[in-house]
Amino acid sequence: MLRIDVITLFPELVEQVISCGVVGRAAKQELLQLNCWNPRDYTLDRHRTVDARPYGGGPGMLMKVQPLQDAIQAVRQQNKIGRLIYLSPQGIPLKQAMLAQQLDQGSVILLCGRYEGIDQRLIQQKVDQEWSIGDYVISGGELAAMVCIDAMARLIPGALGHEQSAQQDSFSAGLLDCPHYTRPEEYQGMKVPEVLMNGNHQEIQDWRDQQSLGRTWKRRPDLMDQIDLDERQQFLLNEYIDEFNRTG
Ligand SMILES: C[S@@+](CC[C@H](N)C(=O)[O-])C[C@H]1O[C@@H](n2cnc3c(N)ncnc32)[C@H](O)[C@@H]1O
Repeated sequence: MLRIDVITLFPELVEQVISCGVVGRAAKQELLQLNCWNPRDYTLDRHRTVDARPYGGGPGMLMKVQPLQDAIQAVRQQNKIGRLIYLSPQGIPLKQAMLAQQLDQGSVILLCGRYEGIDQRLIQQKVDQEWSIGDYVISGGELAAMVCIDAMARLIPGALGHEQSAQQDSFSAGLLDCPHYTRPEEYQGMKVPEVLMNGNHQEIQDWRDQQSLGRTWKRRPDLMDQIDLDERQQFLLNEYIDEFNRTG
Protein backbone atom coordinates (compact mmCIF):
# COMPACT_ATOMS: atom_id res chain seq x y z
CA MET A 1 0.00 0.00 0.00
CA LEU A 2 1.27 3.43 -0.95
CA ARG A 3 0.50 6.14 1.58
CA ILE A 4 0.25 9.67 0.18
CA ASP A 5 -0.20 12.67 2.48
CA VAL A 6 -1.01 15.97 0.80
CA ILE A 7 -0.78 19.32 2.57
CA THR A 8 -3.15 21.64 0.76
CA LEU A 9 -5.52 24.56 1.22
CA PHE A 10 -7.87 22.80 -1.20
CA PRO A 11 -8.32 19.19 -0.03
CA GLU A 12 -11.64 18.96 -1.87
CA LEU A 13 -9.78 19.54 -5.13
CA VAL A 14 -7.04 16.97 -4.49
CA GLU A 15 -9.53 14.35 -3.27
CA GLN A 16 -11.14 14.41 -6.72
CA VAL A 17 -8.18 12.44 -8.00
CA ILE A 18 -9.38 9.29 -6.21
CA SER A 19 -12.98 9.68 -7.34
CA CYS A 20 -12.63 7.73 -10.60
CA GLY A 21 -10.46 5.80 -13.04
CA VAL A 22 -7.23 4.00 -12.25
CA VAL A 23 -6.53 5.99 -9.08
CA GLY A 24 -10.09 5.49 -7.84
CA ARG A 25 -9.79 1.75 -8.34
CA ALA A 26 -6.39 1.65 -6.62
CA ALA A 27 -7.86 3.49 -3.60
CA LYS A 28 -10.87 1.13 -3.47
CA GLN A 29 -8.54 -1.87 -3.59
CA GLU A 30 -6.55 -0.32 -0.74
CA LEU A 31 -3.41 -0.21 -2.87
CA LEU A 32 -3.22 3.50 -2.20
CA GLN A 33 -4.26 5.66 0.73
CA LEU A 34 -4.71 9.41 0.29
CA ASN A 35 -4.80 11.73 3.31
CA CYS A 36 -5.23 15.49 2.95
CA TRP A 37 -4.16 17.99 5.58
CA ASN A 38 -5.37 21.57 5.47
CA PRO A 39 -3.00 24.20 6.95
CA ARG A 40 -6.10 26.30 7.68
CA ASP A 41 -7.00 23.75 10.38
CA TYR A 42 -3.74 24.65 12.14
CA THR A 43 -4.16 28.44 12.26
CA LEU A 44 -4.26 30.12 15.65
CA ASP A 45 -6.24 33.32 14.91
CA ARG A 46 -10.00 33.60 14.64
CA HIS A 47 -9.84 34.56 10.95
CA ARG A 48 -7.87 31.37 10.22
CA THR A 49 -5.28 33.34 8.27
CA VAL A 50 -2.98 31.31 6.04
CA ASP A 51 -1.26 34.06 4.05
CA ALA A 52 0.97 37.04 4.82
CA ARG A 53 2.73 39.85 2.95
CA PRO A 54 6.28 39.23 1.71
CA TYR A 55 9.13 41.06 3.43
CA GLY A 56 10.64 43.64 1.07
CA GLY A 57 7.25 44.41 -0.43
CA GLY A 58 6.06 43.51 -3.91
CA PRO A 59 2.90 41.99 -5.29
CA GLY A 60 1.10 38.95 -3.93
CA MET A 61 1.09 37.07 -0.65
CA LEU A 62 2.98 34.09 0.74
CA MET A 63 1.73 31.14 2.74
CA LYS A 64 2.34 31.75 6.43
CA VAL A 65 4.99 29.60 8.09
CA GLN A 66 3.20 28.63 11.32
CA PRO A 67 0.09 26.85 9.92
CA LEU A 68 2.27 24.98 7.42
CA GLN A 69 4.81 24.01 10.04
CA ASP A 70 2.10 22.71 12.39
CA ALA A 71 0.39 20.83 9.55
CA ILE A 72 3.73 19.20 8.66
CA GLN A 73 4.26 18.27 12.31
CA ALA A 74 0.81 16.65 12.44
CA VAL A 75 1.53 14.65 9.27
CA ARG A 76 4.90 13.59 10.66
CA GLN A 77 3.22 12.00 13.68
CA GLN A 78 1.57 9.53 11.30
CA ASN A 79 4.08 9.42 8.46
CA LYS A 80 7.61 9.45 9.82
CA ILE A 81 9.48 8.05 6.84
CA GLY A 82 7.88 9.64 3.75
CA ARG A 83 9.98 12.23 1.95
CA LEU A 84 8.49 15.71 1.97
CA ILE A 85 8.18 16.96 -1.60
CA TYR A 86 7.33 20.61 -2.31
CA LEU A 87 5.63 21.01 -5.70
CA SER A 88 7.31 24.02 -7.25
CA PRO A 89 8.05 25.42 -10.72
CA GLN A 90 11.63 25.75 -9.47
CA GLY A 91 11.92 22.05 -8.63
CA ILE A 92 13.55 19.10 -10.40
CA PRO A 93 11.63 18.35 -13.63
CA LEU A 94 9.44 15.35 -12.81
CA LYS A 95 10.47 11.96 -14.21
CA GLN A 96 8.82 8.54 -14.00
CA ALA A 97 11.88 7.19 -12.14
CA MET A 98 11.41 9.75 -9.32
CA LEU A 99 7.84 8.56 -8.84
CA ALA A 100 8.89 4.90 -8.91
CA GLN A 101 11.44 5.64 -6.19
CA GLN A 102 8.74 7.05 -3.87
CA LEU A 103 6.63 3.99 -4.55
CA ASP A 104 9.50 1.78 -3.38
CA GLN A 105 9.67 3.79 -0.15
CA GLY A 106 5.97 3.15 0.51
CA SER A 107 4.95 6.71 1.35
CA VAL A 108 5.37 10.31 0.35
CA ILE A 109 4.23 13.74 1.57
CA LEU A 110 3.29 16.33 -1.08
CA LEU A 111 3.24 19.99 -0.11
CA CYS A 112 1.13 22.29 -2.30
CA GLY A 113 1.95 25.98 -2.44
CA ARG A 114 -0.55 28.76 -3.19
CA TYR A 115 -0.23 32.51 -3.74
CA GLU A 116 3.43 33.37 -4.51
CA GLY A 117 4.62 30.24 -2.73
CA ILE A 118 6.05 29.53 0.72
CA ASP A 119 8.73 31.01 2.99
CA GLN A 120 12.24 29.94 1.93
CA ARG A 121 13.21 29.02 5.50
CA LEU A 122 10.45 26.43 5.68
CA ILE A 123 11.67 24.93 2.40
CA GLN A 124 15.21 24.83 3.75
CA GLN A 125 14.26 23.25 7.03
CA LYS A 126 11.47 20.80 6.17
CA VAL A 127 11.50 19.99 2.46
CA ASP A 128 13.49 16.99 1.18
CA GLN A 129 13.07 17.73 -2.51
CA GLU A 130 11.26 20.13 -4.88
CA TRP A 131 9.50 18.75 -7.97
CA SER A 132 8.26 20.65 -10.99
CA ILE A 133 5.69 19.35 -13.48
CA GLY A 134 7.07 21.63 -16.22
CA ASP A 135 8.38 25.04 -17.19
CA TYR A 136 5.18 26.98 -16.64
CA VAL A 137 3.46 28.40 -13.57
CA ILE A 138 0.09 27.18 -12.31
CA SER A 139 -1.87 28.80 -9.51
CA GLY A 140 -1.28 26.14 -6.88
CA GLY A 141 0.48 22.84 -6.23
CA GLU A 142 -2.77 20.86 -6.18
CA LEU A 143 -2.87 20.01 -9.89
CA ALA A 144 0.82 19.11 -9.73
CA ALA A 145 0.15 16.83 -6.72
CA MET A 146 -2.73 15.19 -8.62
CA VAL A 147 -0.41 14.54 -11.56
CA CYS A 148 2.06 12.85 -9.20
CA ILE A 149 -0.65 10.78 -7.50
CA ASP A 150 -2.10 9.57 -10.79
CA ALA A 151 1.31 8.71 -12.23
CA MET A 152 2.35 6.89 -9.03
CA ALA A 153 -0.93 4.94 -8.87
CA ARG A 154 -0.31 3.56 -12.37
CA LEU A 155 2.98 2.09 -11.14
CA ILE A 156 1.49 0.18 -8.19
CA PRO A 157 1.43 -3.53 -9.04
CA GLY A 158 -2.20 -4.57 -9.55
CA ALA A 159 -3.55 -1.04 -10.07
CA LEU A 160 -3.93 -1.36 -13.82
CA GLY A 161 -6.31 -3.87 -15.36
CA HIS A 162 -3.52 -5.52 -17.33
CA GLU A 163 -0.26 -6.29 -15.53
CA GLN A 164 1.93 -5.33 -18.49
CA SER A 165 0.24 -2.00 -19.21
CA ALA A 166 2.55 0.07 -17.01
CA GLN A 167 5.65 -1.74 -18.26
CA GLN A 168 4.68 -0.88 -21.84
CA ASP A 169 4.05 2.78 -21.08
CA SER A 170 6.45 5.43 -22.32
CA PHE A 171 9.49 5.94 -20.03
CA SER A 172 9.15 2.62 -18.16
CA ALA A 173 12.01 1.10 -20.13
CA GLY A 174 13.49 4.50 -20.93
CA LEU A 175 11.78 4.64 -24.35
CA LEU A 176 8.57 6.09 -25.80
CA ASP A 177 5.66 3.72 -26.37
CA CYS A 178 4.96 2.40 -29.89
CA PRO A 179 1.94 3.58 -31.93
CA HIS A 180 -1.36 1.75 -31.33
CA TYR A 181 -4.33 0.98 -33.58
CA THR A 182 -7.89 -0.26 -33.01
CA ARG A 183 -11.03 -0.77 -35.12
CA PRO A 184 -11.80 -0.01 -37.90
CA GLU A 185 -9.15 -1.70 -40.05
CA GLU A 186 -9.29 1.23 -42.45
CA TYR A 187 -9.88 4.85 -41.44
CA GLN A 188 -10.07 7.62 -44.03
CA GLY A 189 -8.00 5.59 -46.47
CA MET A 190 -5.34 4.70 -43.86
CA LYS A 191 -4.85 1.02 -43.06
CA VAL A 192 -3.66 -0.62 -39.86
CA PRO A 193 -0.04 -1.82 -40.40
CA GLU A 194 -0.15 -5.29 -41.98
CA VAL A 195 2.14 -6.86 -39.36
CA LEU A 196 -0.40 -6.24 -36.56
CA MET A 197 -3.01 -8.31 -38.41
CA ASN A 198 -1.00 -11.46 -39.13
CA GLY A 199 -1.10 -13.07 -35.67
CA ASN A 200 2.67 -13.70 -35.59
CA HIS A 201 3.56 -12.69 -32.03
CA GLN A 202 7.32 -12.47 -32.60
CA GLU A 203 6.91 -10.25 -35.66
CA ILE A 204 4.42 -8.05 -33.81
CA GLN A 205 6.83 -7.69 -30.87
CA ASP A 206 9.74 -6.86 -33.18
CA TRP A 207 7.65 -4.23 -34.97
CA ARG A 208 6.50 -2.66 -31.70
CA ASP A 209 10.02 -2.59 -30.28
CA GLN A 210 11.34 -1.09 -33.50
CA GLN A 211 8.66 1.62 -33.55
CA SER A 212 9.34 2.40 -29.92
CA LEU A 213 13.08 2.74 -30.57
CA GLY A 214 12.53 4.73 -33.77
CA ARG A 215 10.09 7.16 -32.19
CA THR A 216 12.40 7.78 -29.28
CA TRP A 217 15.33 8.31 -31.66
CA LYS A 218 13.30 10.83 -33.69
CA ARG A 219 11.37 12.64 -30.95
CA ARG A 220 13.53 12.34 -27.85
CA PRO A 221 17.23 11.94 -28.69
CA ASP A 222 17.94 13.01 -25.09
CA LEU A 223 16.35 9.74 -23.87
CA MET A 224 18.36 7.72 -26.38
CA ASP A 225 21.57 9.05 -24.84
CA GLN A 226 20.56 7.60 -21.46
CA ILE A 227 20.05 3.96 -22.43
CA ASP A 228 22.33 1.14 -23.54
CA LEU A 229 20.81 -0.80 -26.41
CA ASP A 230 21.38 -4.54 -26.64
CA GLU A 231 22.36 -6.14 -29.96
CA ARG A 232 18.77 -6.83 -31.02
CA GLN A 233 17.60 -3.31 -30.21
CA GLN A 234 20.56 -1.81 -32.08
CA PHE A 235 19.72 -3.96 -35.10
CA LEU A 236 16.05 -2.90 -35.02
CA LEU A 237 16.98 0.75 -34.66
CA ASN A 238 19.51 0.61 -37.52
CA GLU A 239 16.86 -0.94 -39.72
CA TYR A 240 14.43 1.84 -38.74
CA ILE A 241 16.99 4.57 -39.45
CA ASP A 242 17.86 3.05 -42.86
CA GLU A 243 14.17 2.98 -43.76
CA PHE A 244 13.72 6.54 -42.48
CA ASN A 245 16.68 7.79 -44.54
CA ARG A 246 15.30 6.04 -47.62
CA THR A 247 11.69 7.19 -47.34
CA GLY A 248 11.93 10.28 -45.12
C1 LIG B 1 1.65 30.93 -8.49
S1 LIG B 1 2.72 29.63 -8.00
C2 LIG B 1 4.09 30.50 -7.32
C3 LIG B 1 5.19 30.67 -8.30
C4 LIG B 1 6.44 31.33 -7.72
N1 LIG B 1 6.21 32.70 -7.44
C5 LIG B 1 7.57 31.18 -8.74
O1 LIG B 1 7.59 31.93 -9.68
O2 LIG B 1 8.41 30.28 -8.57
C6 LIG B 1 1.90 28.95 -6.59
C7 LIG B 1 2.23 27.50 -6.31
O3 LIG B 1 1.86 26.69 -7.41
C8 LIG B 1 2.67 25.53 -7.46
N2 LIG B 1 3.23 25.43 -8.82
C9 LIG B 1 3.18 26.38 -9.78
N3 LIG B 1 3.78 25.98 -10.89
C10 LIG B 1 4.22 24.72 -10.66
C11 LIG B 1 4.93 23.77 -11.44
N4 LIG B 1 5.32 24.03 -12.67
N5 LIG B 1 5.22 22.56 -10.88
C12 LIG B 1 4.85 22.29 -9.61
N6 LIG B 1 4.17 23.16 -8.82
C13 LIG B 1 3.86 24.35 -9.34
C14 LIG B 1 3.71 25.68 -6.36
O4 LIG B 1 3.31 24.90 -5.26
C15 LIG B 1 3.67 27.15 -6.06
O5 LIG B 1 4.03 27.42 -4.73
